[in-house]
Amino acid sequence: MHLNNLFSASSLFLILSWVRTLMFLLLVQDVPVSFGQENVDSSNCSVLNFTCGDLIKNISYPFWGNLRPPYCGMPGYKLDCLDGGITEIEIVSEKYRVLGIDQGNKIMTITRNDFLGEDDACLADGFDTITPNFTLFNYPPDKLTLNYGCPAFPGSNTFPNKFNCETNETSNTDAYYWSGILASAGINSPPNSVRCWKSIEVPVTVTALRRLSNDPSTTTLSSVLRAGFDVGYSDAGCHDCMKNGGECRYSSASLTCFCPSSVTNRTLCSVPGT
Ligand SMILES: *[C@@H]1O[C@H](CO)[C@@H](O)[C@H](O)[C@H]1NC(C)=O
Ligand SMILES: *[C@@H]1O[C@H](CO)[C@@H](O)[C@H](O)[C@H]1NC(C)=O
Ligand SMILES: *[C@@H]1O[C@H](CO)[C@@H](O)[C@H](O)[C@H]1NC(C)=O
Ligand SMILES: *[C@@H]1O[C@H](CO)[C@@H](O)[C@H](O)[C@H]1NC(C)=O
Ligand SMILES: *[C@@H]1O[C@H](CO)[C@@H](O)[C@H](O)[C@H]1NC(C)=O
Ligand SMILES: *[C@@H]1O[C@H](CO)[C@@H](O)[C@H](O)[C@H]1NC(C)=O
Repeated sequence: MHLNNLFSASSLFLILSWVRTLMFLLLVQDVPVSFGQENVDSSNCSVLNFTCGDLIKNISYPFWGNLRPPYCGMPGYKLDCLDGGITEIEIVSEKYRVLGIDQGNKIMTITRNDFLGEDDACLADGFDTITPNFTLFNYPPDKLTLNYGCPAFPGSNTFPNKFNCETNETSNTDAYYWSGILASAGINSPPNSVRCWKSIEVPVTVTALRRLSNDPSTTTLSSVLRAGFDVGYSDAGCHDCMKNGGECRYSSASLTCFCPSSVTNRTLCSVPGT
């Protein structure tokens, strides 16, 4: 006991004099100091959440990108922050604008960049149909079909869902949008005999379909396309890791839960099934 006290007293003294020397060094010159007691290995993802512009803030696993290193998320969930605070994600070689990420419900709202230009409902060159990646996301069941470069046909002017888009592939500029579910609202596909240059499919929300059935105008179509659609994603169980103070990392091709040094019961930092 006696010896212990003596030991503590002398180590306290040592620490105090060390701190004094350190303060001195810090005051006198601008030396870089690293406090080595932190377990850096276990909390550098949680301090590097993804933030870009006003729409996308504080985003964690499974997303990564920009300052957030690849091991802080899963492959396929890379976000890009462009100038002006615009967030993009690439899915099956196509770029999408990210309009929102609801981490609580694990839903991301995206739209094709092409629909954000001046001729909102028209296509940029090289645009092809939206190819989903079902490994990464759940897509809404409802789709809107868009036909471009359609020739005029008898009665085409009575279609409330007809709009206009120029393309340098054909001189036909008529375009149509439709969805089976909208037939009851008098919104129909052009007749099968009408050969359009291109047909693409875009996932849509039920809200969007309702808006179109109430007002089938091109303005509504543009607004609906610009508002995008929701895809669901999974965080592979990261929530269970985080609720006990662990940090999610992608390691050895799966989610790995890292324990910060402050969590002493290591079994708390685990993911079901690992
Ligand atoms: C974050 O952790 C990784 C490995 O887990 C390490 O290589 C890297 O140096 C750490 N970065 C920082 C800024 O601590
Ligand atoms: C990053 O996000 C995680 C998960 O939502 C959260 O626990 C953590 O506090 C965030 N980090 C910062 C610095 O906000
Ligand atoms: C990030 O989100 C977490 C909760 O998910 C919250 O505790 C933290 O304060 C947020 N950080 C910022 C910088 O908004
Ligand atoms: C879907 O995403 C996974 C994970 O990034 C990737 O391995 C796969 O190639 C993607 N599928 C397609 C069709 O691009
Ligand atoms: C169509 O026009 C764009 C420029 O507006 C051009 O880049 C593209 O090569 C043209 N496509 C064809 C097939 O001529
Ligand atoms: C650690 O946490 C697990 C899971 O909650 C619990 O079953 C176990 O008793 C804890 N161990 C200690 C030493 O507290």
